[in-house]
Amino acid sequence: MICWYGHACFKIDRVLVDPFVPNPLCNIGYEEVVKGVEVIAVTHGHSDHLGNTVEISKRYNIPVVSNHEISVYLGKQGVAAEGMNIGGTIEIKNSKLTMVKAEHSSDIDENTSGGVAAGYIINDRVYHAGDTGLFGDMKLIGEIYSPKVVLLPVGGRYTMGPEEAVKAVEYLNPKVFIPMHYNTFPLIEQDISGLVKKVEEMGVKVVVPKVGECLDL
Ligand code: NI
Ligand code: MN
Repeated sequence: MICWYGHACFKIDRVLVDPFVPNPLCNIGYEEVVKGVEVIAVTHGHSDHLGNTVEISKRYNIPVVSNHEISVYLGKQGVAAEGMNIGGTIEIKNSKLTMVKAEHSSDIDENTSGGVAAGYIINDRVYHAGDTGLFGDMKLIGEIYSPKVVLLPVGGRYTMGPEEAVKAVEYLNPKVFIPMHYNTFPLIEQDISGLVKKVEEMGVKVVVPKVGECLDL
């Protein structure tokens, strides 16, 4: 099951990724979003991804998976944090997460490094790319993990945009593509109609969930 809560926030089975809720696209609070969640996964340190991680984790006693540097930062705030790094896999509760590279930055604030940004392969099925530009090793990610569903940022400016996303989908060769990280703020507004058309022409299903919608994928 995959639910979208705007921006890069998804619930993938029992894993909540980048819990920035509510946000300008989503007025659903984390009290609702957290239902059924056993693990929180954070892709990088920027506030639109780290979001309400500390509050949710402590209030509901849910462990957080992140890179090593963010786990140290979270640990100092009393969060049950499990650090890992790119290329590694963690099996936690009933979920399996493999951390893969992303081309992006990750500072938490001007004084706190958040290590290196990442994406995740979740339960051998879903690739959440985090914030990233296009990179050639997406082809390798497609070959090794064969993700059925890929979630890619398409907003441009801070991540890749629609044109690069077409190439990313080609590299990853999934069954289903879900665009994310667009139209949340004016700076990442995008018309994705051209992208949708090109990806469908490749024989890949494009799913654009409504905010708060859960799909059986
Ligand atoms: Ni970012
Ligand atoms: Mn972002």
